[in-house]
Amino acid sequence: APTIPFHGGRQAGVDTPPQTHALVVGYALAPGVVRDQLVRALGDWTTAASAMTSGRSSEPALAGTSPARLTITVGFSGGLFKALGLAPAPGMVDLPAFPGDRLDPNRTGADVGVQLCADDPMQLAGAAAVLNRLADGVLLPRWQRLGLRPTRQVGTPRNLFGFKDGTANPTDLDRHVWRPDGSTFLVVRQIRMDVPKFTALPLPDQEAVIGRSRESGAPLGARVETDEVDLFARTDDGAYVIPATAHVRAAHPRFDGGAEMLRRGYTYVDGAGEVGLLFLAFMRDPELFVRVQRRLSAVDGLRHFTETRGSALFWIPPGVAEGDWIGSALL
Ligand code: HEM
Repeated sequence: APTIPFHGGRQAGVDTPPQTHALVVGYALAPGVVRDQLVRALGDWTTAASAMTSGRSSEPALAGTSPARLTITVGFSGGLFKALGLAPAPGMVDLPAFPGDRLDPNRTGADVGVQLCADDPMQLAGAAAVLNRLADGVLLPRWQRLGLRPTRQVGTPRNLFGFKDGTANPTDLDRHVWRPDGSTFLVVRQIRMDVPKFTALPLPDQEAVIGRSRESGAPLGARVETDEVDLFARTDDGAYVIPATAHVRAAHPRFDGGAEMLRRGYTYVDGAGEVGLLFLAFMRDPELFVRVQRRLSAVDGLRHFTETRGSALFWIPPGVAEGDWIGSALL
């Protein structure tokens, strides 16, 4: 279907099968803005988002187009709660500094975050322009990042290192992603990838860094992509089949009591020649991200080929009922 329902108990753009394009925008609360101004802007966003995602928008830039499964997902940071003097959403944390990160302040943090996704990138440009205009003077865009996925590939998409990315995602989202009230958390990371350095490695070394076969996506030692990652299997000389520094070992949910995150990432390219992963992950409890990232920062073989340049965490409030507005659960 060309449209994804905007209204409901949970926001769209989380369990929606990933669209081909994403645009994530981080907004700062303009100086001196009071609660009522923000409430008004979010009310205007609600009306506009409902119209644009259903193809009823009268925006000139969107005239005659299909929404192409446009979703608009709105989140609030811990900083916004503080700025408004509100108690933070239950479960909200401050992301700590992780060793090896090289965060660019101009891509890090935001008071409000919006993830727009569609199968047509023009929808993202048009919709973001509308949101920016409606929030003018209240929320100022601080950074934005456009993400891409293959538009004509069957199966799990490959990232710029050539590996299938998104294989081991949770299927039970009620357990791993949604909170009982219909909210969730979104971690946004802009992770630069050193493609020349990684792809210069011989293929077996690349596969050891990830812990999977590049061709099939199967875990090392297994046959097909969907086979389980076996952390205990050893070779004849006693070494782990999935190396100690493999990404899929360091990230494995076995070390988190089985807790999983829903990764919904995109590839990015920027005007200065940087390429990377727009890492987008939804989870019930952001402490999970902190634990996994700490392990990755310490042991993950990928850390020699990647560098995190941007970071943000948003609470994604429950979905919007007809007649309600985004964020009423907070404000
Ligand atoms: C798995 C790539 C960053 C968490 C994978 C896989 C690849 C991959 C190829 C195996 C296929 C799959 O199951 O999807 C990358 C690249 C990254 C990156 C290229 C950086 C540029 C991260 C970060 C996190 C993360 C920052 C979280 C902090 C995971 C998890 C899995 C995974 C949880 C599944 C592990 C399992 O259950 O087997 N990643 N990843 N990744 N990655 Fe990453």
